Amino acid sequence: MNNLSTWKVSIFGLGYVGLSHAVAYALKNIRVVGFDVDGEKIELVRKGVSPIKEPDAVKHLGSLVKDGKIRVTENYRDAVLSTDISFVCVNTPSLQDGSADLSQVRSAISMIGEVLRDKEGFHLVVVNSTVPPSTTENVVKPLLEDVSGKKIGEDVGLCFMPEFLREGSAVQDILSPWRIVIGEVDKKSGDALHQFLLDVYRGKLPPLIRTSSVNAELIKYASNAFLAMRVSFINTIARLCELLPGANVDVVAHGMGLDPRIGTRYLKAGPGFGGICLPKDLRALIRTSEKFGYDPVLLKAIYKVNEEQMRHVVELVENVSGNLRNKDVAVLGLAFKAGIDDVRESPAIKIVNYLVGRGARVKVYDPLAIENAKNVLGNKVMYASSMYECIRDCDAVIVVTDWKEFKRLTPEDLRRFMRKTVLIDTRRVFIDRIHEFDEKVMYIAVGISLLP
Ligand code: UGA
Repeated sequence: MNNLSTWKVSIFGLGYVGLSHAVAYALKNIRVVGFDVDGEKIELVRKGVSPIKEPDAVKHLGSLVKDGKIRVTENYRDAVLSTDISFVCVNTPSLQDGSADLSQVRSAISMIGEVLRDKEGFHLVVVNSTVPPSTTENVVKPLLEDVSGKKIGEDVGLCFMPEFLREGSAVQDILSPWRIVIGEVDKKSGDALHQFLLDVYRGKLPPLIRTSSVNAELIKYASNAFLAMRVSFINTIARLCELLPGANVDVVAHGMGLDPRIGTRYLKAGPGFGGICLPKDLRALIRTSEKFGYDPVLLKAIYKVNEEQMRHVVELVENVSGNLRNKDVAVLGLAFKAGIDDVRESPAIKIVNYLVGRGARVKVYDPLAIENAKNVLGNKVMYASSMYECIRDCDAVIVVTDWKEFKRLTPEDLRRFMRKTVLIDTRRVFIDRIHEFDEKVMYIAVGISLLP
């Protein structure tokens, strides 16, 4: 149908998913036209500055824009008319009841459909945004047909293709994916997307399945719910380990993971899972199940265990420090995982809020996420510019994100800077150095026996 240098694609929504795709496709020599309703974002990208801190986007965007491989526009007509495929990468945030808000998807599809009314030739629309099962068939398809006045499968193509990107390695996850899922509304649309992907990955196509859009939508939600389940599962075992003399959750996880049917990934106990995707998609899957009359007991338990885990971290501090009113507590790490600046639904933010709610004075530090945290936490907490400043004169310190630099803290530092040396290690960053802690340092790690 085409060859790499002649593919032109438009990307609607230049957030974390859209921009990562723009960079990855441009690195594969595809001409990309980016569109977003946010003028500030467009301006930044036009200057080659990445609005997201995704490492490979930051690294490559400037040269890709300069070379003309990525171009941005405020004009959605231009975006559609100058390209063969439009990818919809807008957000689908949680509504109050946990279901997915589809307003941005509707708006993007309406814009594309309006332009397609006047466009000659076949144009493919691919939804990358995470949408609840049956949305592509029951919401997107009728809307696109209505607005464009054209028939899907004849003049216009439509597919849902879930993205499986992890923040921090998003561009790499597109360049070398573990699998690709094409959710096709009809065969012609599926063939068109398949051909594009064959060209993109040039003979090195990862495992790829073609299926209905509803299956593809479910694959996305089920994958994130499954990952969340593994984390909640190991956090459940971690709670038990804390009560059993001599138990260590990491040893248990390692032993479990050696069974290839189980595997070792996503079995790291911690403060609970966070981020924009796992909690949001789990909530949406719960709401979808309920809408169809099924009570998803297991999914609800995954969520409940996660919420409890964050409260449990605060209880661990209370167990050793007593009433937290007017105590000074340091929180190291605010991002929902190390290596990124994203604090959305971060366990650290919830833990901070619990601490503040119990009357503690909280000081926080994160190597990358302080600015984003300020937007969420405001003046509820004090912000430190180093981990040493953060722990100074505190009664307890909680390590919530496993940033490498935290490993540099020594028992000596704790004794020197802190008022009381209580260290709550939710990610077991210091577990290898436990022998360095004397009885003056009260060291408590999530998932490690609290009893001698
Ligand atoms: C997640 C999925 O991993 C991606 O496959 C998916 O594409 C993405 O959501 C999405 O839907 O867009 P991400 O949100 O970047 O990616 O985060 P993860 O790396 O999966 O981590 C999620 C949370 O689980 C973090 O808070 C992390 O600390 C926690 N986690 C993860 C654990 O506590 N233990 C583990 O063993 C693994």
